[in-house]
Amino acid sequence: MEPTTDSISVENLSVSFKTDRGLLKAVDSVSFSLRKGSILGIVGESGSGKTVLSRTLIRLLPETNLKIEGSIDLFGIKVTSLKQRQLRHLYGSLASIIFQDPLTALNPVMKIKKQIAETLKVASNHNGSNIKKSVIDLLDRVGIPDPKSKSESYPHQLSGGQRQRVMIASAIANSPKLLIADEPTTALDVTIQLQILKLLKELQKQNDMTLIMVTHDLGVVEYICDYVAVMYAGKIVEFGRTEDILSRPLMPYTRALIDSTPSIHRDKSEKLMPIESMIPDPFNLPKGCRFAPRCRHSQTRCLIESPRPTQDAINTSHSYSCFYPLKNEWAVSKANETIATSDE
Ligand SMILES: Nc1ncnc2c1ncn2[C@@H]1O[C@H](COP(=O)(O)OP(=O)(O)O)[C@@H](O)[C@H]1O
Ligand SMILES: [Mg+2]
Repeated sequence: MEPTTDSISVENLSVSFKTDRGLLKAVDSVSFSLRKGSILGIVGESGSGKTVLSRTLIRLLPETNLKIEGSIDLFGIKVTSLKQRQLRHLYGSLASIIFQDPLTALNPVMKIKKQIAETLKVASNHNGSNIKKSVIDLLDRVGIPDPKSKSESYPHQLSGGQRQRVMIASAIANSPKLLIADEPTTALDVTIQLQILKLLKELQKQNDMTLIMVTHDLGVVEYICDYVAVMYAGKIVEFGRTEDILSRPLMPYTRALIDSTPSIHRDKSEKLMPIESMIPDPFNLPKGCRFAPRCRHSQTRCLIESPRPTQDAINTSHSYSCFYPLKNEWAVSKANETIATSDE
């Protein structure tokens, strides 16, 4: 898809940190595009580069020891050509982000109403009296009960779920086109998790907002996402519609992730299969396919050559980076053999 004002387009994006041990490439040649109003899940084990990728989309990381290559286009705005300072003016309206822990994002000594009012003031169409009303409206929209009196609270006086709602209220205050949510429900218990996901889904629909959900939980993806990008060691190794990715994965890694996820493990007769061993050391990445050392199906070629993203011949919205993609029926029957076990 060519960059347009109706889409997000990421081309060959790499993000590297300059560290004492040398250059750490946390995101490596990632490309994808997404139409406005879609919900994309970015999944993968811890350390795979989800947070770095999602924050780079809005250039949120400190850039003193950072190298960004490639291009990011958000609805016609060339994020990679702007100065970070110029982009700051677009935070909130072009894109905003919510984090796992609202306490780090909210100011502990500022009343809720003031925090949201400050966000609203950035937008020019608000004056003093309608800000007050907008704050209450926003709290109401995100499902805070009795929003008027709750707006007088400090963050610590609210429950975890309510704090998350306040952070969402603040993030959507200026109607961003893109909302990035980085593990927004990971710290919450299951019932609250579901409520927050429902809320995000509702808000996304009402505003025709594009939503990027960063999560290590495929259950969350299944519930809310239209598309999924599977990350492994800094690369997107599989991309497609959620139903295709979850029911007909082509990458052995994706299969392994599914088989290690209790919430979507439908066939109770099959054992849950934790993924054996660790993701590779970013300073010492495997030469060929980065998953090959853990992959049951790897062959000599996988250890030497790096597979490039390949479009599925029939289902062109599905792409994968694997020399030996799983065949569907075969993938299901061989599910439990995907990953080499430690006793082999
Ligand atoms: N500020 C930083 N400096 C150096 N390395 C970093 C920094 N932030 C993240 N990394 C490294 O980048 C890689 C990807 O991290 P991250 O995006 O946080 O993973 P995820 O969100 O998928 O768990 C990891 O190897 C991590 O150690
Ligand atoms: Mg993360």
